[in-house]
Amino acid sequence: MNILVAGGTGLIGSHVLRELLATRPSERLHVLTRDPGRPHPLSAHVRRVRGDVGDPASLAQAVRGMDVVIHAVQFPNHPVENPRKGWTYLEVDGRGTVNMVAACRKVGVQRFIYLSGAGVRPGRTEPWFQAKAMAEEAIQRSGLPYVIIRPSWVYGPGDRSVNKFVKMARLLPFMPVIGDGEGKVQPVSVLDVARVVTLAVDLPEATNRIFEAGGPEALTMNQILQTVLRVLGKRRPLVHHPVGFMKAVASILQYLPNPPLTPAAIDFILMEERVDPTETERVFGVKFERFQDGLRRYLGPRR
Ligand SMILES: NC(=O)c1ccc[n+]([C@@H]2O[C@H](COP(=O)([O-])OP(=O)(O)OC[C@H]3O[C@@H](n4cnc5c(N)ncnc54)[C@H](OP(=O)(O)O)[C@@H]3O)[C@@H](O)[C@H]2O)c1
Repeated sequence: MNILVAGGTGLIGSHVLRELLATRPSERLHVLTRDPGRPHPLSAHVRRVRGDVGDPASLAQAVRGMDVVIHAVQFPNHPVENPRKGWTYLEVDGRGTVNMVAACRKVGVQRFIYLSGAGVRPGRTEPWFQAKAMAEEAIQRSGLPYVIIRPSWVYGPGDRSVNKFVKMARLLPFMPVIGDGEGKVQPVSVLDVARVVTLAVDLPEATNRIFEAGGPEALTMNQILQTVLRVLGKRRPLVHHPVGFMKAVASILQYLPNPPLTPAAIDFILMEERVDPTETERVFGVKFERFQDGLRRYLGPRR
């Protein structure tokens, strides 16, 4: 089979490629990227093809001859939108996926696997939910056989979030937290997500269904940071910054050419979403790992 991973240079996409290489070595793997010249750790095993979800002509070219398309694209510096560069939920997650679906339909791709997000349902007003809903609807209406996966917060080797916490634990005498840190998420290992995506390539029972992916525990941000510190063998106090103060700072920062934070990104970070992974575990025959166990496997006691 020819399998194209759009977003194959990103966190989830690169782990999907590794899992595909390990478990299905006879498939031909292709990576859609805006910059095929950039070094890729798996370049010996994958073909890189130039494409941008905002450029339908490039997608038409990229999906030609593909049997399966795995769509794991996210705008750079997520969750901080940058409308001047077109890096927004609407443009990349929403319209970009619509463009990709249209390209796949034209060439008769046999399976479309989409990385959506936890909490997508009609009527939600936040831009990330609206974009994901637009994407999911386009997929479901397309007539393409599909599998949609809605992960909670994904962590693992190469992620930006836990790695940021690790850096802070090394450099700062305290761990900054936005708000009271009591909002809960269900961290899910990128290795588990990659396993589910890889199995979704040809699992008949998964066809035309939506699956939630999340770890077995709902943890607060305080618990997540304390777990990271424990696994690293470090002691740092958590210092909470009021949301109102952080938003005031972000409302100034958002006017920088490359804003590090915006008020909307703070809302995204503070979002609480619960998922029910029971059916996903049953259909795919997987067991999502506890955060502490997954973290230990890649951070180890000393890093
Ligand atoms: N990470 C999480 O915690 C999480 C949780 C729930 C859902 N998800 C979903 O999972 C998917 C993948 O997320 P991720 O965290 O793996 O993303 P990521 O690490 O930020 O990677 C994003 C990928 O998107 C590609 N990309 C960006 N703009 C593009 C464009 N205009 N055209 C084509 N490709 C473009 C990038 O490739 P190039 O730079 O090579 O072009 C990169 O490979 C997203 O849909 C996200 O919403 C992620």
